[in-house]
Amino acid sequence: MIVESNVPLQPYNSFGIVARAQHLARIAGEADLAALRDDPAWRDAPRFVLGGGSNIVLTGDVKSLVLKVEIKGLRLLEETSRAWIVEAGAGETWHDAVEWMVRNGYPGLENLALIPGTVGGAPVQNIGAYGVELQDRFDSLDAFDWETGRSFSLDAAQCAFGYRDSVFKHARSSPSDFGLAGRAVITRVRFRLPKPWKPVAGYLDLERKMEETSNFTPSAQDIFDWICAIRRAKLPDWRVLGNAGSFFKNPTVTPEQCADIIARDPKIVHYPMDDGSIKLAAGWLIDACGWKGKSVGNAGVYERQALVLVNRGGRENPVTGGEVMTLAKAIQTSVYERFGIRLEPEPVVV
Ligand code: EPU
Repeated sequence: MIVESNVPLQPYNSFGIVARAQHLARIAGEADLAALRDDPAWRDAPRFVLGGGSNIVLTGDVKSLVLKVEIKGLRLLEETSRAWIVEAGAGETWHDAVEWMVRNGYPGLENLALIPGTVGGAPVQNIGAYGVELQDRFDSLDAFDWETGRSFSLDAAQCAFGYRDSVFKHARSSPSDFGLAGRAVITRVRFRLPKPWKPVAGYLDLERKMEETSNFTPSAQDIFDWICAIRRAKLPDWRVLGNAGSFFKNPTVTPEQCADIIARDPKIVHYPMDDGSIKLAAGWLIDACGWKGKSVGNAGVYERQALVLVNRGGRENPVTGGEVMTLAKAIQTSVYERFGIRLEPEPVVV
């Protein structure tokens, strides 16, 4: 097992921030993880698991041992009368995996096309877009437990999925607590894609596509193509303009809080949730505070979607993690002062 030293991380984070990993190991399979754990030099070293780097802000060089997960593989594991079960290696690029499934006749993840990152990052975040969340299509996953040195499997309930949340985002606070942050490395994910396939096309943007094309019985490939077009029109491509997707989560408030805000700002975008709470559009809140198109140093608020912070300096003169966080804090302060709502960042700050 080769551990590389002083590795540039700019190619491995979607913001394009310059930073280095003091030590980085490329993980091609469970055996690499076991070998590292068996090595006294690395066994107790702090670790940082890197997937596609599409949801991180690097604020300096990373001193922990970076585990760059590169586990590959895509296969149909099982087909029953009720579902296709597809298994993917954690290091597969998310979008490529979705495209492969749609093209090979295993539909169900098309609404999640073009989300940056890797398969292994998807359950950590419980990624979601256009009416589908990962948890709706999840079967189980395999992970390597650094504490025991063994691989284990988790089903959906054990992953404790929430809105952009899972057991992998929480550290264990007591011995009975099941938090897996810093402990487990996801190696493989299995998707359960229900049969018969039904389109999820209730989102306004998708309804518009149906009207535009007069295609009211879209195939999974149609939805896939539409989602790609919608995202390309609205969200910056990180290869061209570095970013980490939505920078803040959409906050939820009580109906009373929402009524109070509506009294002051009648146009606020809000959606009732199944549990009785109200979700507010963070992009709208930030936009309403006048942030669209503004910058702090090389950190900017994207012109077409205020929820996305971008690297305005490109590869040559890239934004720093400090600039991104200064801008993020200024946005949080102004949204709090105007609406009394604390926005929570989505990416992991390293
Ligand atoms: N809005 C504005 N101004 C803005 C941005 C948004 O007024 O600058 C309004 C929009 O007009 C819309 C509402 O806010 O009425 C919501 O915006 P949008 O439909 O673009 O969705 P979102 O809440 O910004 C969420 C996810 C995205 C996902 C889309 C589509 C979060 C934090 N973000 O965005 O996920 O792709 O819905 O389902 O939940 C991500 O997590 O990185 C991500 C991109």
